[in-house]
Amino acid sequence: MQIPLLVVVAFAALTYAQIPQSIGYGVDLTDYGTVQTFQCIRNLRYSYAFIGVYNSVGNGTVYSYAVQNVAPILAGLKIHIVHAPAPQSSKSGATQFLETYNTLKAYGVSVHTVFLQITSPISWPNNPQKNSAFIADFVNAAARVNVHVAFYTNWYDWEQITGGWVTTPRLLWYWNTLGNGVDAAGSDDFTDFRPFGGFTSPYVAVKQYRRNLSGCGVAFNGNRFVSGLVFMQANAARVEVKKEAEKQ
Ligand SMILES: *[C@@H]1O[C@H](CO)[C@@H](O)[C@H](O)[C@H]1NC(C)=O
Ligand SMILES: *[C@@H]1O[C@H](CO)[C@@H](O)[C@H](O)[C@H]1NC(C)=O
Repeated sequence: MQIPLLVVVAFAALTYAQIPQSIGYGVDLTDYGTVQTFQCIRNLRYSYAFIGVYNSVGNGTVYSYAVQNVAPILAGLKIHIVHAPAPQSSKSGATQFLETYNTLKAYGVSVHTVFLQITSPISWPNNPQKNSAFIADFVNAAARVNVHVAFYTNWYDWEQITGGWVTTPRLLWYWNTLGNGVDAAGSDDFTDFRPFGGFTSPYVAVKQYRRNLSGCGVAFNGNRFVSGLVFMQANAARVEVKKEAEKQ
C-alpha cells in the first residue's frame, strides 16, 4: 500500500521533534539509500546509521548495493556494519563473514566491528548447539582478520536460538519494542535491560526501541546509544582515502 507523501512528512516531523540533540540516536536499515536519503536522516538528528549489508534470504548473499550504502558517511553519519546471517545456508558462518568482509574491503571500507544479527528464531534451525557453533564460527573468522563481532539480539531471541548459551560477553545491541511504529515503541532508556547469556549492563551499547518507521523514502528502525559513545565513535567503519588519489 502506498503511503501518501503528506503522512510521511508529518511523521518525520514528529520523529524530529522527539529527539533531543544531546543524546546519540541512530537508525538501522537494509533499504538502499542515496546520499540525499542519508542527509535527510541526518536532518532528523540521527548521528549513526547501522547498515545491513547481508541479505539472509536463501543461502545468503551480500546486497548488490551494500557498498553504495556507505553513503551515510558522505552525509555526515557514522556507520556500523550489520550482518543478518543465513543460518540455514549451506555456507558456514565463517564463509558468510568473509563475503561481507571481502566485499567491503575491496571498496576501501575498513571495518572494526561487525554486528551479527541473532534475531527471528523462526529463521534459525531448531538446534541450539548448531546455532551456537555457527555463531562461534563467524566470530572466529572475524578474529582471524582482527575484526570484532558485536551481537544484535535480545534475551528472548538469544534463549530461543542458542538455548541460553552463556558466552564470552561482548558488545551488545538489544531490542525491545512491542511492534511497528512509534505507538509500539519501547522505552527510550535502558531501565528494561536484564542480564542474559553472559551479557551484563557494561556491555550494553545500543537499544533498538522503535521499529519500522518510515521517512526520507526508506523504512528504518530507531536506536538509542548509551551516553558514553566512545566505543561507537572509535569503531565506526571508515572509508579509506584511495592511495592512488593521495599520490597525485
Ligand atoms: C543452497 O546451496 C546448496 C548447495 O549449493 C543448494 O543445493 C541449495 O539449493 C541452495 N539453497 C537455496 C535456498 O538457494
Ligand atoms: C513496515 O511498515 C510498512 C508500512 O509503513 C508495511 O508495509 C510493512 O509491512 C512493515 N514492515 C514490517 C516488517 O512489518
